[in-house]
Amino acid sequence: MTAPWPPGLVPFQIDRSHTTPITAQITATLRAAIIEGRLRPGTRLPSWLDMASQLGVARGTVKAAYEALADELLVFSAGAAGTRVAERAAPKPVEAKQIDIPRPLQGLERGFSLRPLPFQMGVPAQDAFPAKLWARLRTRAVRANAMAPVGPPDPRGEPELRAQIAAQLAITRGICCHPDQIILTSGYKNGLCLALMALGVQGRTAWVEDPCYPVARMGLKIAGLKPIPIPVDAKGLRVDMGVRAAPDAALAIVTPGQQAPTGVTLSSERRAALLAWAEREDAWIIEDDYLSELQLGGRAAPAMAASDPAGRVIHIGTFGKTISPSLGLGFVVAPLALAARFGEVAGYLNPAPNVTTQLALTDFLADGHFLRHLRHMKGLYRERRDALHARLDPGIVVDAFAGLSLVVHLPRGYDDVALAKRAPEYGIAPCPLSVWYANPAEAQPGLVLCVTNLRAQTLDKACDTLATLIDEGAAVPVAAQAA
Ligand SMILES: Cc1ncc(COP(=O)(O)O)c(C=O)c1O
Repeated sequence: MTAPWPPGLVPFQIDRSHTTPITAQITATLRAAIIEGRLRPGTRLPSWLDMASQLGVARGTVKAAYEALADELLVFSAGAAGTRVAERAAPKPVEAKQIDIPRPLQGLERGFSLRPLPFQMGVPAQDAFPAKLWARLRTRAVRANAMAPVGPPDPRGEPELRAQIAAQLAITRGICCHPDQIILTSGYKNGLCLALMALGVQGRTAWVEDPCYPVARMGLKIAGLKPIPIPVDAKGLRVDMGVRAAPDAALAIVTPGQQAPTGVTLSSERRAALLAWAEREDAWIIEDDYLSELQLGGRAAPAMAASDPAGRVIHIGTFGKTISPSLGLGFVVAPLALAARFGEVAGYLNPAPNVTTQLALTDFLADGHFLRHLRHMKGLYRERRDALHARLDPGIVVDAFAGLSLVVHLPRGYDDVALAKRAPEYGIAPCPLSVWYANPAEAQPGLVLCVTNLRAQTLDKACDTLATLIDEGAAVPVAAQAA
């Protein structure tokens, strides 16, 4: 079928002063006419020569525009019959402004790729990140990777990196494992996903700490498990209550090193009880070791995976806190009996992330930078935490030094979520405590104040703003806060 060329429907406006090349302007005009249906399938475009003289441009310019449209499958060359509009033109792209897809992690993250604010969780001390060294290691890794023979990479991660991590874990976490028990991931969430897939526990129940990292609770739900909140006290998870509430749970997710968000360390009796339950019930313990050796109060407690003779602990580590979440690297240590299964899942469904980042991290570990960096960060974060503690308004009740944060309590009935929502407008980003609980409405309100990026020059202003916002929030009646 040949449809006539309708010049009036294709209004060309060639602008020679514009930075967009003329070829691209012609392509865009024709593309729009085809996609919007003004040029019907089968329509023959004018010859290059005719179009060029009509528009006052060179013949080659039109030719290049037609070729670009052919690459997009919008037109085709019909030999002597000229260039024609293709039968099935590409669908009209939906205009971005019509779309309103909610971003993920609403209510948990204030947005993505935003400049971190004082008190914000999940961000490292940007000023202490060894940026130059990291850039050098990455450049070297990119070059080495580009020169290397191209074969499929090990889906569990580069063997040298896994060997380095195994060596570091022995030193910093007391874990004795074979490098083939280690699977590289993009961080904690990816490690959890890998573990849940490998364990095949969909439809089962799982213990979660109450309070706990909200991602763990929601992640379980998304993966088709039913989280059962188990209270935490000064010795960590109430294992006895877990055994009573859900003895046949498939697994328990715990933060034994420094409970998130309370900071308590799981006592040795509770560890033994948890391991005994897992062994008895054929259940698993997922150890979220998010802070690794970053214990500001002294030497970090050993990992649970360090004393797990029955092989019930799946240890999830991340470089998100110890180096930076921007690396997008973490790892899982599978119990020996499950190492092959985890490797298979990585191979088929969840291969290790980007090789060049892995190679750069390998050098970072092998050359001793990691342990040096850890030592430096511990000192820096301790200083920042103490400075915050000393500077906080005396009316603010500090409940705990927890991980890299201070936890402060607010009066019962206080709407900590509303405060946290307003805070970024005033340049700070504290995290509400109640969202860490399974039942926020009945939870203790408070704020988790992360100290990592709290520099001396921002401390005073951040603390004054916090005190003002807390006072203002207290002045709002609870009913109005909830509205
Ligand atoms: C308890 C806990 N686990 C895991 C993570 C996340 O680790 P990653 O940076 O690997 O996503 C966080 C981050 O804040 C956390 O608080």
